[in-house]
Order: sequence, then structure tokens, then C-alpha cells
Amino acid sequence: MLVNSNELLKLALKDNYAVPAYNINNLEWARYILEACQDDKSPVILAVSEGAASYMGGYKVVNGLVKSLLDELKITIPVVLHLDHGKSFEVCKKAVDAGFTSVMIDASSKPFEENIDETLQVVKYASDRGVSVEAEIGSLNEENNNDNIASIYSTPEEAKDFVFQTNINSLAPAIGNKHGLYKGEPKLDYELLGSICKSVKIPLVLHGASGLDENKIKTAIFCGITKININTDIQLAWSEEVKKYIQNNPEEYDPRKIISSGKNAIKKVVHEKNRLFDSVNRAN
Ligand code: G3H
Ligand code: ZN
Repeated sequence: MLVNSNELLKLALKDNYAVPAYNINNLEWARYILEACQDDKSPVILAVSEGAASYMGGYKVVNGLVKSLLDELKITIPVVLHLDHGKSFEVCKKAVDAGFTSVMIDASSKPFEENIDETLQVVKYASDRGVSVEAEIGSLNEENNNDNIASIYSTPEEAKDFVFQTNINSLAPAIGNKHGLYKGEPKLDYELLGSICKSVKIPLVLHGASGLDENKIKTAIFCGITKININTDIQLAWSEEVKKYIQNNPEEYDPRKIISSGKNAIKKVVHEKNRLFDSVNRAN
């Protein structure tokens, strides 16, 4: 069942767990993630970056692919089809028009007022069409050994102002998290996260959650995170398995065997994360 993320995230906020958002890259990724989440009875957000959408042939292709998989695989859990890090109103509009049920407008690299204006434009277009909107403030891709931390972390005041002015459904703050591999020990500012949570009272999203250990994830959920984004951990697990398979089977040339040799690795990560986020058995 394809839904927007509003009710799912509100429920997660109320009951203190997080809904997983896994990035998809192709048919196999979408299929394995859906099957693993169906087995776990976990709601799931399939996140599609601009790059992944273009790799798969466009937003309409992705929408058709996901809808057909839900039908053919008899998926009954709630599934959100979500644009991840949409960089402009035009991109978000394309995803909404193609049937995505949720979009993220990421204008966080623009000045604060411009971020508000672009986000507002997306909220107006998306909410009229029943599509949920996530936005980002602060800067996610800086390591926290950066000298100018004040300029990259979000503050509770700007978070409150941003949510008040835009009426978004969920917010991704910068609290020391980053995409890809962390250099050294990740340091998330949980006190800041807790203050932002209190000041905005809407679901919060944790980007860059690959590589965070159990304790960090559980603390983040305790401090108000209700959607957790995982991309890198799945990519690492899949590529390791596929490399091993190719080494052990140098004569193999059937793409189905090569690509699917990473199936169990993907499913294993998804099952582990679902358990860790406590999203298992939340979709009955
Ligand atoms: O938007 C996608 C996620 O924030 C991915 O984060 O690189 O830690 O998996 P990750
Ligand atoms: Zn992200």
C-alpha cells in the first residue's frame, strides 16, 4: 500500500520508534528491501535520490516499478515512495506529478530565507496533492572537527522559525551527522537534537545514519528522531558480497547471478536496521 509519510511518522513519534528510509538504485534494491520489510512487518520509506531516479530512467519509471512490485509481490505493509534531497521546486514537482507520495526539498545550501521560500513553494504544491514534505536546515556534510560549527549545526530557534513559516511535515536538522563514511568516531549533539525536538514538535529525520552504532541510534530515537536514512551501509554490504562472488566465480557472466549474489547481504542489513529502529511488527 503506497502512502505518504505523515501518519507513519506521527505514530513513530508517539510510540518512540523510527521508520526506516532505505535508498534504492534499481529493481533488485527495491525488491529485496520490500521483501525484507514485508517479512518484518515494518513500514518502509523507499528513498530515491535525483541521481538514482535519473539512473533508473526517470520518476515515472520509478513510480511504475515500485507500484508493480507492490502488486506482484503482494506487499501489504505501508510503503512511502520518497524523493531524497530534491534540490529545487522543479525536481520536487516532477516527483509529485509522477506519483511519489513524499518529497524532500533540500535547499539547505541556500541562505535561510531562500530555503524558506523554496520549501514553502514545495509545501503548497505537494500538500494540495496529499504528498508529505521534508526539508533540511543547517549543513550535513561537514565533519564536526570543523572550526566553524555554529554555521553548520541547526539551532532550536531557526528550526522553530523554519517550521512555523513553511508548515513542513518533517525536518532534517544538522546535529553533527554526515553522509557516507564518518572519519573517526561520529559525534552527534543529542542535547541539541532534544531541544530542536521540543521546539518544533514535528517528526525529525536523521540523515547520514550509516555507521552509527546501536547506542547512537537508540539515543537519537529517544531524542525525537522518527525517520532514519540508510544508504551507505547497504551499498557496502552489497558490493562486498558481489566482489567476493566475482572472485570466486570468474567465469560467470549472467547478470542476474552477479547482481543477486548481494541479495542476502542487503536483506541482512535491512533486518538488522528494522530491529534496531524498533519498526518490526508496526505494520499489521
Ligand atoms: O539521504 C540519504 C541518507 O542520509 C544516507 O546516509 O550515507 O549514512 O547512508 P548514509
Ligand atoms: Zn541524506
